[in-house]
Amino acid sequence: MTHRSPFSAQIVGTGTYLPEKILTNKDLEKTLETSDEWIRARTGIEERRIAAKDESSSTMAVKASLQAMKEADVAAGQLDMIIVCTSTPDILYPSTGCFVQKGLGAVNAAAYDISAVCSGFIYGLSIAEQYLKSGRLETILVVGSEVNSRIMDWEDRSTCILFGDGAGAAILKRTETQSPKGILSTHIHSDGSKAEMLCVPGGIGRERISSLAAEQKQYTLKMAGGATFKSAVKRMTEAAIEALEFNGLVKEDVSLMVPHQANKRIIDAVAKHLDLPLEKTFVNINRYGNTAGAAIPIALHESREEGRVKDGDLVLITGLGAGLTWGSALIRW
Ligand code: ACO
Repeated sequence: MTHRSPFSAQIVGTGTYLPEKILTNKDLEKTLETSDEWIRARTGIEERRIAAKDESSSTMAVKASLQAMKEADVAAGQLDMIIVCTSTPDILYPSTGCFVQKGLGAVNAAAYDISAVCSGFIYGLSIAEQYLKSGRLETILVVGSEVNSRIMDWEDRSTCILFGDGAGAAILKRTETQSPKGILSTHIHSDGSKAEMLCVPGGIGRERISSLAAEQKQYTLKMAGGATFKSAVKRMTEAAIEALEFNGLVKEDVSLMVPHQANKRIIDAVAKHLDLPLEKTFVNINRYGNTAGAAIPIALHESREEGRVKDGDLVLITGLGAGLTWGSALIRW
């Protein structure tokens, strides 16, 4: 369908919201047996943002979305669909999407959440692409938003140093004629056999929320770091190659890779496997850490703001998250 559709799906606006509070590696040294040097060398992270008490995934998503809507010149009533990519929903239900709909006043939009953690935005893009290219809908908001700080075990130095809070949004529009611009393809994958590699084990579906489980820290993130690292490098590389091959393109055609920001070493390894020069890779993990489902849209917005994405450029997005889930998107700007 991607090639035969008479329609294109274009990103016409992007936006971000980052909470004000900055937590530096030096701050973490005060409460953890860690060091700024270790964190920088092993992850590339220097600082991350932490949401204020009255902020949540939905409030941050609304702010990022308003910025994207402004650039796209899209009013709330024009949104046909809101896809919120989050692994830290405001409450169990209703969806964070419904809170975002309310916050924006998007009365004509169907709203829901995607749970694919760090791959969430790629999953969201793939759904938007299908609705727009099929001609079914005209305007879709895809927004990643996470308050990772609320699911961290702040005593676990191997995980809590990695993550941060934030939101990133994109407005996608259907264009009536086939255009060389827009989303060329999306590819998404998952492997549930590796669910335990990276997870928040406590949950309402398997057993009741209990103070014992809370004491055992079942509601905080657990990660097999080394195994996740290897999976991320392998799957992000594979997904990037899949995107290029599907479109009959080669690495030399790529203007900029906007990868999921999980670890600078992962990004460097993926670029090396793809034989892409590092200057064709966008990195902002130093400032925000891993913001999970928000990382790719934040990076996409900032790469545009920095003038690194120009008309006609080919942007390659690739990412991996808990699930495991992974995927890629190729966009002609
Ligand atoms: N400060 C100091 N020492 C530390 C810290 C810390 N913050 N954390 C771990 N260490 C120690 C370990 O205890 C270990 O000590 P030991 O040798 O005495 O046992 C040593 O450092 C080395 O630990 P490793 O785990 O081997 O370190 P590694 O180089 O693998 O880095 C890291 C760990 C950063 C977690 C890395 O494995 C990683 O980035 N993994 C992938 C994360 C990721 O990609 N997540 C993706 C998706 S996220 C999502 O979907 C939500």
